[in-house]
Amino acid sequence: MTTLTPPTPPDIAPYQARRARLIERMRAAGGGVALVPTAPECIRNRDTHYPYRYDSYFHYLSGFAEPEAVLVLVAGDTPESTLFCRAKDEEKEVWDGFRHGPDAAREQFGFDQAFTIGDLDLKLPELLADQPVLWCGWGYDPAWDARIARALQAVRNNARAGATAPAVMRDIRAELDEMRLIKDPGELTIMRRAGEISGLAHRRAMRATRPERHEYEIEAELLHAFRSAGSQAPAYPSIVASGANACVLHYVDNNRRMRDGELLLIDAGCELDGYASDITRSFPVNGRFSAAQRDVYELVLAAQTAAKQEIRPGASWNAPHDAAVKVIAQGLLDLKLLTGALDDVIEQGHYRRYYMHRTGHWLGRDVHDVGQYKVGGDWRPLEAGMVLTVEPGCYIRPAPDIPEAFWNIGVRIEDDAVVTDDGCDFITDTAPRTVTEIEEVMRERQHDAA
Ligand code: GLY
Ligand code: MN
Ligand code: MN
Repeated sequence: MTTLTPPTPPDIAPYQARRARLIERMRAAGGGVALVPTAPECIRNRDTHYPYRYDSYFHYLSGFAEPEAVLVLVAGDTPESTLFCRAKDEEKEVWDGFRHGPDAAREQFGFDQAFTIGDLDLKLPELLADQPVLWCGWGYDPAWDARIARALQAVRNNARAGATAPAVMRDIRAELDEMRLIKDPGELTIMRRAGEISGLAHRRAMRATRPERHEYEIEAELLHAFRSAGSQAPAYPSIVASGANACVLHYVDNNRRMRDGELLLIDAGCELDGYASDITRSFPVNGRFSAAQRDVYELVLAAQTAAKQEIRPGASWNAPHDAAVKVIAQGLLDLKLLTGALDDVIEQGHYRRYYMHRTGHWLGRDVHDVGQYKVGGDWRPLEAGMVLTVEPGCYIRPAPDIPEAFWNIGVRIEDDAVVTDDGCDFITDTAPRTVTEIEEVMRERQHDAA
């Protein structure tokens, strides 16, 4: 007998509610059958795999974390939900750990029926036959595309027995993206906790930073804070970028020795139970901002504050970005890093020399989460329950026309905002944000062990 303990079953109610809502949306658009596979396992080298991460859409609808699984939903007569998953196999479980098998999965996750994944190719033609619409995603996994094509062909091969293949294919992701954009209370609880953990990780990183330590030592502190608080993994590769590296937007080598007088930019957030957090802080390696560093920092912070003030239901998605750009453009003029008229700096995009990315993105199961930014050609209005980042920045590379005191100052300040009924909440406040808070936390380093 196996002695393995199954993972604690999740509260299945939110997953069942999402499946029901998706089926309603499918019915409203012609009914049919939806196929949602989880992510494939991925080899890192030879026989070693990357740590497994389920597909965000699949897990959103199922709560089921094992690889090799496909969810089928039918928006017509019964039955509505079918899971295909790995067979129960106690010998394999000795090597790789617990697997539910179809019977336990059906019962614990509330599906109408479940089969082993080995039966999928056999059963797919049956599930697709006589359905008006096939809802699925395509174009991201050639093996999955080929599997669907084979199943459709198998239905067509049965035409003389009276079977009809779906005449219409629709992208299920368009429906799911809209659903995922508005977070339900359970999702927000997880995201708030993820933000809290990540903020505390940044605090820990500040306390660990000092001249002559390496970027990777600080990355290790972040990882320690994430994992010891129960997060499963970083939501994306941590950026720990000192000196000139702070001006490399996607720097992830994290191998440099940090020097006195430099800034350190950290962009890191944990994933908790499938939800990402995403925080950036920029602070002096020695714990005290220089005058130029402080000027740029205060400018970016003012831009973030201006952006935050624009976030409320009904406001345009682009309003926070416009507000941040306006503050940064004026600040660059004040610091004499740009010349000319404010309108020109904005309209001609001269500010992009120092601020070349946008002020935020949707946040959720994926760090750059799903959801359209424009609807009908216009920036969409914000709604309560949306979650977005607010992350203005300023990156000053060495150049002959720039005073040396500004060289290699890279500042980004990034927090995660939940749109509320009348504004927004930052859920990442555990990360010190102001100059005073940062310098105070870094002064506490004296009391820490070297
Ligand atoms: N960490 C990725 C981003 O800030 O967009
Ligand atoms: Mn971000
Ligand atoms: Mn980030």
